[in-house]
Amino acid sequence: MIDLFSDTQTRPTTGMRDAMARAEVGDEQSDSDPTTLALCERVADLLGQEAGVFMPSGTMCNLVAILVQTRPGDEIIVDDQSHIYNTEAAGSAAIGGVSVMALKTPAGVYTPEAFAAAIRPSARTAPRSALVSIEQTTSFSGGSVWALPDMRRIRDIAHERGLRAHIDGARLLNAVAATGIAAKDYAQGFDSAWIDLSKGLGCPVGAVLCGTRAFIAEAWRWKYRLGGAMRQSGILAAAGLYALDHHVDQLVRDNAHAALLRDRIAGAPGLAIDEGAAQSNILCFSVEPLGVTAAAFAQACLAEGVRVRAIGAHQIRATTHLEVDEPSILRAAEVIRAEAERLSARAG
Ligand SMILES: Cc1ncc(COP(=O)(O)O)c(C=O)c1O
Repeated sequence: MIDLFSDTQTRPTTGMRDAMARAEVGDEQSDSDPTTLALCERVADLLGQEAGVFMPSGTMCNLVAILVQTRPGDEIIVDDQSHIYNTEAAGSAAIGGVSVMALKTPAGVYTPEAFAAAIRPSARTAPRSALVSIEQTTSFSGGSVWALPDMRRIRDIAHERGLRAHIDGARLLNAVAATGIAAKDYAQGFDSAWIDLSKGLGCPVGAVLCGTRAFIAEAWRWKYRLGGAMRQSGILAAAGLYALDHHVDQLVRDNAHAALLRDRIAGAPGLAIDEGAAQSNILCFSVEPLGVTAAAFAQACLAEGVRVRAIGAHQIRATTHLEVDEPSILRAAEVIRAEAERLSARAG
């Protein structure tokens, strides 16, 4: 099967498993797991931040960043297709007592002006706008890459107006691969930022949340409180270090594969592909003109050995990753195209 469902579907390689088996370990909870400490330092350095903390998941990175930087009754500002808003089980509300202002965006990217307009004026009747989050790259809206000047403008507006600024960097390194802009340039001046290890980097688990030393001290308190503190986590951190050594360069190839898929299915009848689609390793397109649901389209592709993801009623998402090579992309394109042609012929 050619699995384009998500870049979370990768399995650890033999090299990664070897590195995990050889990892030097200690007790993470008391800061004495050397491999985890090395990973945190490495990612903090990559993001140009003072310190980092190893987390079981990106979801926990987002939640903890919100918990540290808000109080119950505050509001956070995100885009309406963001992971925080759609798929984190409303953790910010359930655990942090925080409401979410979700900005309508065409591709997960809002403008600095839209952000500035969304900040609430101070009033005793209103929630306090406390934190803004940028998803670099966007997930459910097709891997869009935020422009650095817009990110910086949003960061600066946030700080001028008394908000903190956060980067959900689940796929930040795919943005780096797409633009050549360093991760630390994207993260510069942000109050919190993280990268996921279990997506394009191909690790089985883990993410690293970074910020100032003071922020990380508070983040640790929440990590512990939420049950995220670990023991011999060096086994997992070793996978992260291995991935940073061996799996970063191939993100360029993953991005190119998404563009290749786009080019190969462009013009197929009944597929609506936005201009500017596939800016990184995710391609979204709509099957609405074919008069079928995304779920039915995805099912038909699966029957031919290609797994894509239905997002909403008509959107299909295909995500490339290290287990997908060029022949697989060409085959996936054939299957998607053939299915579009079959359905459009049927529709007459
Ligand atoms: C943009 C974004 N943020 C956060 C997450 C959550 O990461 P994790 O699956 O590691 O919890 C994901 C996962 O798909 C994501 O795509």
